[in-house]
Amino acid sequence: MIRFAAAVLLFALSTSVAIGGREIRDDLIRLPSEASRFFRRGDADDTNAGDDDSVGTRWAILIAGSRGYGNYRHQADVCHAYQLLKKGGLKDENIVVFMFDDIAFNGMNPRPGVIINSPHGDNVYNGVPKDYTGRNVTVNNFFAAILGNKTAVTGGSGKVVDSGPNDHIFIYYTDHGGPGVLGMPRYPDIYANDLIDVLKKKHASGTYKSLVFYLEACESGSIFEGLLPEGLNIYATTASNAEESSWGIYCPGQNPSPPEEYGTCLGDLYSVAWMEDCDMHNLQRETLKQQYELVKKRTANDNFVYGSHVMQYGDLHLSKDNLFLYMGTNPANENFTFVDDNFLRPTSTAVNQRDAELLHFWDKFRKAPEGSPMKFEAQKQFVEVMSHRMHIDNSVKMVGKLLFGIDKGHEVMTAVRPTGQPLVDDWDCLKTMVRTFETYCGSLSQYGMKHMRSLANICNSGIQKEQMAEASSQACTTIPSGPWSSLQDGFSA
Ligand SMILES: *[C@@H]1O[C@H](CO)[C@@H](O)[C@H](O)[C@H]1NC(C)=O
Ligand SMILES: *[C@@H]1O[C@H](CO)[C@@H](O)[C@H](O)[C@H]1NC(C)=O
Ligand SMILES: *[C@@H]1O[C@H](CO)[C@@H](O)[C@H](O)[C@H]1NC(C)=O
Repeated sequence: MIRFAAAVLLFALSTSVAIGGREIRDDLIRLPSEASRFFRRGDADDTNAGDDDSVGTRWAILIAGSRGYGNYRHQADVCHAYQLLKKGGLKDENIVVFMFDDIAFNGMNPRPGVIINSPHGDNVYNGVPKDYTGRNVTVNNFFAAILGNKTAVTGGSGKVVDSGPNDHIFIYYTDHGGPGVLGMPRYPDIYANDLIDVLKKKHASGTYKSLVFYLEACESGSIFEGLLPEGLNIYATTASNAEESSWGIYCPGQNPSPPEEYGTCLGDLYSVAWMEDCDMHNLQRETLKQQYELVKKRTANDNFVYGSHVMQYGDLHLSKDNLFLYMGTNPANENFTFVDDNFLRPTSTAVNQRDAELLHFWDKFRKAPEGSPMKFEAQKQFVEVMSHRMHIDNSVKMVGKLLFGIDKGHEVMTAVRPTGQPLVDDWDCLKTMVRTFETYCGSLSQYGMKHMRSLANICNSGIQKEQMAEASSQACTTIPSGPWSSLQDGFSA
């Protein structure tokens, strides 16, 4: 019980920091849609005219890397993205969807069969193709879909990006991540170098004209930083730089918040920013660059108290392309032209990706009737999550001290390489270090991905596997029980 009180105190502390000091100026700021109505088509014609749509097909891959009701928002993002591409004119045969699909009919979903991506949003679940769901959402299938290699696919619909040299490809991923990694519903996760290799291979096969990659995850900049070369005809933007969290939005207790009965975040800040922009504009008259600037402003959320730095990588010259080239456009938006000094949405409170799930467990605990078995169960769950987090944090810290000494441990483990350099030089070493740590200390899990930089720094310092094994075994004499430490769900198993 004392342990629980401590955990609650800790959590209360962190939420008060996160919630304090933001005013919502809902009534003072005009929404972009209202502003746009004043500009007729052609009045703000500063966009690139190079929209030759006479050749080539638009392809898209949409992928949510998580599962579980506490991660509702990622699959909601993906469903929303499908709807806007569909309205834009893309065909189902050209949109490949990866989602675990455990949300719409989840016992905790207050509206069975319905998924929303904003508090008053429409149902975005209708008609979403179930290409790869459940166990079929794998790194291997994701890579095979990008490469257009049907024979490499296991399970699922078998749909892949079967593109030709004149085609345009859009890839959108949303989930948890960490330095150099992106989560998947089941292990293994995606390592940045493997993803970059696949993109290089796709380029070498000559099967696209240009490719746009939108990426939402914590530390998502680290996936491309120092890794994505120019010349592949790829333009990527990420929700955050290489060193910071990305943010959930429409979260319980925040403003704006989901309907009371939801108890989970409905969307992610960067994702919702680009999609809500697309929803209301004529995409024939809005460039990638214009959207990048708008999304960057909205995702920064004024001063980064609840926001992150949206980044761009790869062939930046592609950003003068119109969004239309990749996403089509909804004919109903014909007369809603994007304008550069677009009015921003009112600033909203947001929740750090890594705390969003905690908030879900907390909400469950808060709502359960006093003294009920549900209350007890929710409390137990919350304590388990918290103690797993503390175990992981403390173990990584301890390993650092054992390897580099009590004084230097912290410094080496938290060092950040200069901008433009990749996280680690030897990715096989990183994978080995992750496996070694997990062997002795239990799964890093979704939360523990935040420590990937420390493990990378261990490699960058020239530590050998045997030294790591010795330090990990000393640091972790026990692994707390509970689902959070199961080796079976290990990070790299
Ligand atoms: C497609 O995948 C299969 C199975 O992994 C592999 O053997 C084959 O070489 C791949 N084809 C191409 C064109 O890369
Ligand atoms: C995975 O794909 C196979 C083959 O298409 C399918 O039979 C199975 O139902 C899928 N599994 C899930 C969980 O969607
Ligand atoms: C856009 O404006 C033109 C001219 O006013 C009009 O003819 C057209 O129907 C409008 N398009 C839509 C989709 O409302």
